[in-house]
Order: sequence, then C-alpha cells, then structure tokens
Amino acid sequence: MPLPQDERVVALANDLLKQLDLLFGLHSGYRAAHAKGMLFTGTFTPSPGARRLTRAPHIARASTPVTARFSNGTGLPMIADSSPDANPRGLAIRFQLAEHVHTDIVSQSLDAFPTRDGYEFLEFLKAVAASGPDAPSPKAIEVFLGAHPAALAFVQTPKPFPTSLAREAYFAVTAFAFTNASGEKRFGRYRILPEAGIEHFADSDAATLAPNYHFDELLKRVSKGPIRFKIVVQVAAPGDTTGDATVHWPESRELIELGAFELTKAVADNAVEQKQIIFDPIPRVDGIEPSSDPLLELRAAIYLLSGRRRRAATPEEPA
Ligand code: HEM
Repeated sequence: MPLPQDERVVALANDLLKQLDLLFGLHSGYRAAHAKGMLFTGTFTPSPGARRLTRAPHIARASTPVTARFSNGTGLPMIADSSPDANPRGLAIRFQLAEHVHTDIVSQSLDAFPTRDGYEFLEFLKAVAASGPDAPSPKAIEVFLGAHPAALAFVQTPKPFPTSLAREAYFAVTAFAFTNASGEKRFGRYRILPEAGIEHFADSDAATLAPNYHFDELLKRVSKGPIRFKIVVQVAAPGDTTGDATVHWPESRELIELGAFELTKAVADNAVEQKQIIFDPIPRVDGIEPSSDPLLELRAAIYLLSGRRRRAATPEEPA
C-alpha cells in the first residue's frame, strides 16, 4: 500500500538529508546546508502600499522585530568565503510577531532552483556524488543535466561573488499566495534588495579574499550603521505558473514594495542562537499562504529534521 502523502514527504526528507551528509560530511551541530552563517537583529517597517497585497499581521502594524541569518552555500561550516561553492548565499528572515509566534522568508542569491521537486533534487545530488574526477564518461551529472534543462540552466547561471552580503539581492524562488483584507488573492515571489545597491567582485579578485571576508565585513559594516534591505514582491499575472520554482515569470511583471528592514546588530551569542533557530519556508500566517510548489512541504520537513538534529548535537571543534 502506498504511504500517505505526509509520510512520503518525511521519507524523502530523510533520504535527502542522508544524501547531503554524504556530499558534505556530517558536521555535528551545524546545518546540513547553508552551514556557515551569522545572525543579526533589527526592525521591519511595512510600506504604505503593502496592504493592497496582504493582510498579514507584520504588514498591518507599524513595525516588527526581525532576526536575519546570512549564510554561505553548502553544508561545510568552515567553507572559505572565497570558495565558488559558497555561492549562492542565503538570507533567512524571521518576523517576530509575538513570543513564539513568527513568520519567515528563506531566500538565496539566485532566482532559480535546479529541479521542480525533491525527488528530482535527490537524483541531482546522487548524480553529483557519482561524478567525481575518476568517474567514467559520460558522468552521471552530464546525463542528468542533458535530460533536465532547468538544472542545466541553474548550473550554467553565473554565481558571482558579492562585495558584501549586504550588497547582494536574494530571492525566495517559490511563489506564495497573498490575500488582502478584501479577500483578493494574488500569487507573488519575494525579492530582497539591498539599499546599498548590488555589487559583485570579478571572479579573479574574489579568489584572493580572506576565508572569513564576508562575515567580518558584515560585522564591520553594522558597527558603522544599519544594514538595510527592501522587500518587494513580483506579482504573477493570470495564467502564470505558480507551483513550479523552475518556471520564471517575465521581468515585466508588477513589483509591489512590501516594506524594508534594517539590521542594527549581530546577535550576541551567535553560535548558540544559530544552533537553536530553525527557519521555516512555509509562512504559516494569515494573509500569506503556500503555493502548490512541492518544494515547500518537503523543505519544511527537512529543515525541521536537520534543525532538531543540530539542537541535539554537540558541535565539532573547528579544524
Ligand atoms: C529540495 C530543495 C531543498 C532542499 C532539500 C534544501 C535543504 C536544506 C537544508 C537541509 C537546510 C538546513 C536547514 C536547517 O538545518 O535549519 C537548508 C537551509 C537553507 N536553504 Fe534549503 N533546501 C532546498 C531548497 C532551497 C531553496 C529553493 C532555497 C532558496 C530559496 C533554499 C535556501 C536555503 C537557505 C537560505 C538555508 C539556510 C537557512 C538558515 O539560515 O537557517 N533552499 N536547506
């Protein structure tokens, strides 16, 4: 008898977690993906026009405290900021609505994902693992990319190095359904845009960066003044595909400004707090619902699995 949907999602999440552990090694006390990061706190203020999109509580009130985590790609907690695998970067934002009540946005510095669902993503990771330098030709990853154009496009998309994690744009990639106080529902995708402007290094300059360049730079920057981002939503037109992260919408789609947040300081006990906080890709708040994108349920399941494992673990010593 086939497993019920919930159990299938948890089983897939477990398989993916095992595969990420194989790829990056198991680093006790750290995230299985986006392992290296830093937490900051600050305040979100909604834009006047945001209420026409959503009745969500953080849009209805004057301001909301936020906690945000910048991160590098991969499950390697000591990855050098100059490594090409550190891109795409991550930015996860928690809006603290009340004690133990929150809604999150989880975003990355590339407006794309290689696969439509977790089953394909597992195939993709297995193909990567089977394609070491000694693997026979054609390598598993070449075969996979040949059959999956979205994954090929993702792999080929340039992933430049930001000059600062505060000068990069981030995307939640999947769509959400936004409902306003009149009950009007529209689908949209988050973009998190730096007030300081987007700026990238040439790859040759990035190779010479210090191993902790980006996180040291954030600390220096925040000591001089707030780090500010705008949150905008790219709104779907009727007929746009809203349940598939690999399908892009035309750049001409309307952008609605949701608000802005400023980060004013690094969290004091960063290592302890990073271990504790588990971001949730599903908003779980009135006025912002998940789309039918199959990545959402799966990601919620695996972030919880990885997060609970991390909380229960004793962290390894840095090498
Ligand atoms: C099948 C798809 C995906 C899988 C299996 C996956 C897996 C994971 C895992 C295991 C973690 C660690 C969670 C934790 O321990 O708290 C993680 C974190 C993260 N993922 Fe994904 N992910 C997927 C898709 C995405 C997408 C589409 C994005 C971009 C929007 C994304 C961005 C991030 C970010 C930014 C973090 C770090 C969150 C934090 O700072 O706590 N992931 N992912």
